[in-house]
Amino acid sequence: MISPSTHPCPQWLSNAIFYEIYPQSFADSNGDGIGDIPGITAKLGYITDLGCNAIWLNPCFDSPFKDAGYDVRDYKKVAPRYGTNDDLAALFAAAHERGMHVILDLVPGHTSEEHEWFRHSAEVDRNEYSDRYIWTDSWISGGDGLPFIGGETPRNGTYILNFFKCQPALNYGFAHPQRAWQKPAFGPEAIATCDAMVDVMRFWLSLGADGFRVDMADSLVKQDDAGKPFTIRTWQYMFSKIRPEFPEAAFVSEWGRPNESLEAGFDMDFYLDWRWDGIPNGYNMLLRNVDNPLSRDGDKSYFNVDSGTPISDFLEQYEPQLREAEHLGGTFNFITCNHDTARVAPRLSEREIALAYCTLFAMPGVPFIYYGDEIGMRYRDLPTKEGGYVRTGSRTPMQWQSLASLNASYATPAITGGNYLPVDPSPDAPNVADSQSNKASLWYTVRRMLHLRGNCDPLQSRASFHPISRRRLFAFERSTDLERVIVAVNPSTNSERLQLPNGHYRKIFEIGETKVDFNTLTLGTQSFAILKATA
Ligand code: NOJ
Repeated sequence: MISPSTHPCPQWLSNAIFYEIYPQSFADSNGDGIGDIPGITAKLGYITDLGCNAIWLNPCFDSPFKDAGYDVRDYKKVAPRYGTNDDLAALFAAAHERGMHVILDLVPGHTSEEHEWFRHSAEVDRNEYSDRYIWTDSWISGGDGLPFIGGETPRNGTYILNFFKCQPALNYGFAHPQRAWQKPAFGPEAIATCDAMVDVMRFWLSLGADGFRVDMADSLVKQDDAGKPFTIRTWQYMFSKIRPEFPEAAFVSEWGRPNESLEAGFDMDFYLDWRWDGIPNGYNMLLRNVDNPLSRDGDKSYFNVDSGTPISDFLEQYEPQLREAEHLGGTFNFITCNHDTARVAPRLSEREIALAYCTLFAMPGVPFIYYGDEIGMRYRDLPTKEGGYVRTGSRTPMQWQSLASLNASYATPAITGGNYLPVDPSPDAPNVADSQSNKASLWYTVRRMLHLRGNCDPLQSRASFHPISRRRLFAFERSTDLERVIVAVNPSTNSERLQLPNGHYRKIFEIGETKVDFNTLTLGTQSFAILKATA
């Protein structure tokens, strides 16, 4: 048996660049208004041309869509609005033909209240599923501090929730059961849930999936201790089952604490966007250090030209976590955004975004680009849809072309992002077609940078990282045994100078005006440079 903590990360992750697709809004191939899987397959060329070689697909399973698909009704069936299981298998095959990988979104902590496991679990008579969820032993019982629902089912008990009301928690047990209804972690009931989830993984991996992004991966064992030791062991159990069968499958957790998630056996974790009670975490400090996602008032984000924020605060939080990830043999990943997070446009300017994304793409870890960020799609203030609330404004249809050309194209229908939500109606809303015909566009810069990263070993996931300037000017060295690059970004309007470590350098990428003179790099207003050490 492979021990999870010594399982080597799949090799393909070392130069993977992911594109996150929200299937509702990406590409509608049949004109029914909602994105679908054949639409995604038709756009694989676009994704590889951009420089991405992997896809994270948000939940595409049968669901009542009270939480946009994170309320799974059938783990083994593609939601009819997105197509069929055969369509998904065809997407895997087409992606593999292009050398790409596709990971799905696994939701192990809860199901929809409409899942058949839950329906059976709610029956009066005991059956195979009676302990699949966490039930108290009486209709009037509270949840021992956990959120619960009563009065909805024939069964004489209340049940524990994991997120929304529609998402009952699956039973992985309690760290320290205190009441008769609380089953132990690793007890037979918890192990049965684990085995059922491993069966779901096996189902999709056998069909051609290349791994999973795992939703709320830290939420499994209830009332776990600090550091989540019981949830960690639960994952180690599941990985001990699935890894030997699919050693090339990749697993990335929604956890946000690599010292825990990588110990649990994940290959990668995300640097999630956290801002609790107005207090930013390191990632938030870079791009979203503001209370209102649509306003620059009081914005302290590092990449905001006016913020004056030094990079040191971010590094103080980031570096210890990076070192832990390196120690545990996994990666700690940056995202441009995701389906839960406000897009940075229009709050940040196009130049600020270009500097931000290029910096993120030069950092260690596996980068994740949220669909539409490459053209600067904008966060919008929209009413909630399918449980999105404030997240809805980041889930709008992909803007493949301008609204004007879309309206004119009825005679020759093109694949659009659909109308799951209203398409951004602003006359200057960015779109792919226009971005591709403008060499000064964000899309061009992103594409140039991703292709550079893909062909430059010291910019890839596991190459080492050493900061050399921690001021407003952020500069760092990345290296392998054979090659070394210097990356520097000046987000301000001042001109900045950086003393380079000894060596000879050649500029291989720049934004704005930058100059290398012997061992000094001068960075003009809002600029970015990558230098390759040549000796
Ligand atoms: C995190 C997902 O990213 C989010 O979209 C979802 O609502 C919750 N988990 C619940 O599954």
